[in-house]
Amino acid sequence: MPLLAENGFLPDLEAVPRDMALASKILWLNYPNNPTGAVASLEFFERVVDFARRNELLVCHDNPYCDVTFDGYTAPSLLQVPGAMDVALEFNSLSKTYNMAGWRIGMAVGNAMAVEALARTKTNIDSGVFRPIQDAAVVALTGDQTWLKGRNEIYRERRDLILETLREIGIQAARTKASLYVWAKIPDGYNSEEFATQLLEEAWISVAPGSAFGPHGEGFVRISMGMSTERIREAMGRLKRFARLFSNRS
Ligand SMILES: Cc1ncc(COP(=O)(O)O)c(C=O)c1O
Repeated sequence: MPLLAENGFLPDLEAVPRDMALASKILWLNYPNNPTGAVASLEFFERVVDFARRNELLVCHDNPYCDVTFDGYTAPSLLQVPGAMDVALEFNSLSKTYNMAGWRIGMAVGNAMAVEALARTKTNIDSGVFRPIQDAAVVALTGDQTWLKGRNEIYRERRDLILETLREIGIQAARTKASLYVWAKIPDGYNSEEFATQLLEEAWISVAPGSAFGPHGEGFVRISMGMSTERIREAMGRLKRFARLFSNRS
């Protein structure tokens, strides 16, 4: 489903042809979204549950950024919608919330039949997670959660640093309320791969071209907040100097 700026990067469910919806088995969603940084409201999730019911779909919602939020925003869970447990499975990961990317541990919660099917498949394709990693995950999930607020402030500062620089050089980007990404509109005269390549070769800044995420990502690049604040500050300084080059080109 195309995720377009004019729809807040949410899929237009009513635009899905009825025969395609009925022939499908799974509706896959991810909000807060990678790569666009878009968020979904509970009201949108209500429409998703209704759509899934009407078309006999299992909704799989990938929700690893629900605890990486800014400006007082709280990301809803799809499972908050009454009746969602009948049609949905929600995935989460410790990668983002607990800075445990690469530890390969996460969870799935939702419809009992779907969880049972997933568990049966999973136990047949691998042999589980190394015990010390499970123990670390228990500590992360059951320990004091107040530190997350301070950690999210660090990401918020990085987001603001990136947005301020983009504004100064005339590049549009939405003020993302959650996730680790700023989705920025590229200047005229480039495609996203050319822009990303030139940024890498001439300003030594690595961003992901939007087209890498599918044809509707064209026209954007994804800037990650995953590097240290100091490195991002340095990169933004270089981006400002690089801006002179692309203003000549367009
Ligand atoms: C939407 C989304 N789902 C899942 C993941 C990866 O999660 P994990 O590290 O648990 O495989 C990412 C990480 O980039 C992501 O952006």
